[in-house]
Amino acid sequence: MYNIALIPGDGIGPEIIREGKKVIKAASFQYGLGVNWIEFPFGAEHYLRTGELLPDSALKEIEDMDAIYFGAIGDPRVKPGILEKGILLKARFYFDQYVNLRPIRLYKGVPCPLKGKNPEDINFYVVRENTEDFYIGIGGRFKTRANQDHLEVLRKLYKAKIQVDFNLEPEEEIAYQIGLVSRPGTQRVIKYAFELAKKKNMKRVTSVDKANVLTNIYGLWREVFEEVSNKYPGIETESIFVDAITMYFIQKPEWFKVVVTPNMFGDIITDLAAMIQGGLGIAAGGNINPEGVSMFEPIHGSAPDIAGKNISNPVATILAGSMMLDCLGEVKIARVIENAVEKVLIEGKVRSHDFGGNSSTIEVGDEIVRKLKEVNIK
Ligand code: NAD
Ligand code: IPM
Ligand code: MN
Repeated sequence: MYNIALIPGDGIGPEIIREGKKVIKAASFQYGLGVNWIEFPFGAEHYLRTGELLPDSALKEIEDMDAIYFGAIGDPRVKPGILEKGILLKARFYFDQYVNLRPIRLYKGVPCPLKGKNPEDINFYVVRENTEDFYIGIGGRFKTRANQDHLEVLRKLYKAKIQVDFNLEPEEEIAYQIGLVSRPGTQRVIKYAFELAKKKNMKRVTSVDKANVLTNIYGLWREVFEEVSNKYPGIETESIFVDAITMYFIQKPEWFKVVVTPNMFGDIITDLAAMIQGGLGIAAGGNINPEGVSMFEPIHGSAPDIAGKNISNPVATILAGSMMLDCLGEVKIARVIENAVEKVLIEGKVRSHDFGGNSSTIEVGDEIVRKLKEVNIK
């Protein structure tokens, strides 16, 4: 019996999570697995009504559960950053989910925007660091000299040579944001990437950085990558600058096996990677703490432009559910769900709007549920 915390969130969040839960419910019933859902109301509505984001009491409660199944957050009525930082990032940091695992797989039956590329060409993992870099939330904005104190604190903390003109005119506003990379934080995620390559029998790990410009943080990242890679002599390694990797993802996606990346570059390159696997509607991810509570979600956001119309594609969320079961050790049920999704995609009778069809969110979910019974896995 698993206890799963459910956070549907905003926009299309509730409609896609409804389908994800429906599919997991049907698959677990079929295989005699017990799942207990504990739903939480956090998101824009709740915030606007109560001022509450993701309270510590809920985090404590979730600590004793097996995983979190998350829809999406973000709402045009709320200033950017409040819900994202207060709910999603808060959970990732609180549970120290230091790996953001994003499989990039072109399923059969899904149209690929790249000419001449087939499912066997697009099949790799992005391992995104998930707790450091520019996501640590240290920064500030100021206009006047009164804020010199802030800069002094910053200098002491980071021993950085911050060059600013102290004789600011009031209208000369300054903003800064600090990116931080730590040796242990980098080691653990890179080690995870190599262990994943070993487990999946993939023979190449690619590291992404910008060590040619942001020499401090990504210099350390690259150094740690080289150190860790020495412990895996059977695996080929390389470091690629982030600007170049966006080009290679398009030009030769078949080259990539496991890609390990700092947090912010990982955010950006996985939206690009999602497109080469058919679009955001199909791209799933897991925020993983191998020893703790992990959280599974589609990599897309709350898509306010299509919310409430019952036209969003629930497949990314359903595949995130499959990843969740896989991580919990329910490997067989996870594969059954993935295969049922693939059957629906290949058949193409039921197709969501982003794939050029006219099936509703609910119809896609229902069809995947029907297909579960046709999947045979020993
Ligand atoms: P988005 O991912 O929500 O949407 C980008 C585009 O993709 C939109 O045109 C949308 O309609 C489409 N799209 C996304 N998911 C889809 C699906 N399942 N089916 C069909 N089409 C889909 O990104 P955005 O517009 O930049 O951000 C909207 C809000 O979501 C913002 O508030 C942002 O901060 C938030 N956000 C949240 C998460 C998260 O919760 N994990 C991730 C990204 C963005
Ligand atoms: C993602 C999202 C989040 C991120 C935002 C909403 C905080 O874009 O999961 O990719 O930047 O990690
Ligand atoms: Mn993103």
